[in-house]
Amino acid sequence: MRITMIGSGYVGLVSGTCFADFGHDVVCVDKDKGKIDRLLAGKMPIYEPGLEDLVARNVAAGRLKFTTDLKEAVAGADAIFIGVGTPTRRGDGHADLSYVFGAAREIGEALTGYAVIVTKSTVPVGTGDEVERIIREAAPNAEFGVVSNPEFLREGAAIDDFKRPDRIVIGSGDDRATEVMRQVYRPLYLNAAPILVTARRTAELIKYAGNAFLATKITFINEIADLCEKVGADVKDVSRGIGLDNRIGSKFLHAGPGYGGSCFPKDTLALLKTSQDYDAPQRIVEAVVAVNDNRKRAMGRKIIHAMGDDVRGKTIAVLGLTFKPNTDDMRDSPAIAVIQALQDAGAKVKAFDPEGVEQAKLVLDNVEYCDGPYQAIEGADALAIVTEWDEFRALDLPRVKSLLKAPILIDLRNIYTPAEVKAAGFQYTSIGR
Ligand code: UDX
Repeated sequence: MRITMIGSGYVGLVSGTCFADFGHDVVCVDKDKGKIDRLLAGKMPIYEPGLEDLVARNVAAGRLKFTTDLKEAVAGADAIFIGVGTPTRRGDGHADLSYVFGAAREIGEALTGYAVIVTKSTVPVGTGDEVERIIREAAPNAEFGVVSNPEFLREGAAIDDFKRPDRIVIGSGDDRATEVMRQVYRPLYLNAAPILVTARRTAELIKYAGNAFLATKITFINEIADLCEKVGADVKDVSRGIGLDNRIGSKFLHAGPGYGGSCFPKDTLALLKTSQDYDAPQRIVEAVVAVNDNRKRAMGRKIIHAMGDDVRGKTIAVLGLTFKPNTDDMRDSPAIAVIQALQDAGAKVKAFDPEGVEQAKLVLDNVEYCDGPYQAIEGADALAIVTEWDEFRALDLPRVKSLLKAPILIDLRNIYTPAEVKAAGFQYTSIGR
């Protein structure tokens, strides 16, 4: 199959590279010439474990190409994926679909024969209808199908998620387009991934409902964690206790500082906008968004409280800045609100993150960035772990204690056990325990 991927950002680049690795001929397109030039030189625009090697291997095999020329890439393609960004529109919280619609128009102008146009970007219900209308307008006589095929990749585990998905969702209105999609995904569902064919609007909603449900699960356990602290229970055991019930499931029940990232905050907001437009309020999701928003800054107050309610003039070492480990992504990271709350209270922040510092510099001012965890800890009045990178899981606790001015450890990800940290002489604060 010949596959064209419009948009070489996170979703487009990972999906395109994985399709090539499964033997398809793939061309990735992007308007950003700098990005394409860097990709041609083997440099990745994002940090994702394993991606650089996979790109190199498939470029060398001649199955993966990069270009800024959309017209040439579209001509002769069997499937054309739209994987451009859908940021939150400034002002009203709706998803900004201008890149999606722009791509649709250009595809319509470049179509040469039958092709399936696939929206992979996360788009509100009904976007497929509009994409179809735009292409029809640009190419009144062309034969084409428009399909919704949401992605469920997690940053940091994207290649594995793509190659071994829990399911493949295809929202398609006609058999010809569905058959092309079956061929596109053939290598994967032969790998036993179930393929679910639905109406196009249903597929669009599956993506939002899925992300909103996961955000709800996290927010639920976060509030239960708050209750655990009041009643003297342990949220880790509560998570395990409820998660072992198959109807609930154990995943996404880790209490922490609130969810962040490029998807959950944006997609929950966009779902609320759609629900308003269609007069079908999603009150549970409304509550989730509000609770999560409030939680991030509250985590700053939690650190301040652990330090005796006064941090003016004190220095706090923060380990972990990205919204989760194995990414350099700072979008809506809880660390931003936490650090700002500390600075507002008069504290100085020294921070270390294995991959996120460059992005952090764009959103956080007046932070002293360090080269390693122990440099950040040295001379600080307390240590706060905000993101659970593996390298923070086995810190040399006696060394940490000797470097800190006071042995105060605040662990917002519950990666230590209270007994071991207390035995090492720390005053320990964690989540829901
Ligand atoms: C998410 C979805 O998982 C993925 O299917 C979708 O395609 C994009 O959005 P991602 O944003 O990469 O993926 O990260 P994910 O691993 O889902 O974590 C999201 C946030 O939730 C992170 O801030 C993480 O720290 C937090 N989280 C996750 C928790 O606080 N507790 C949990 O139990 C799980």
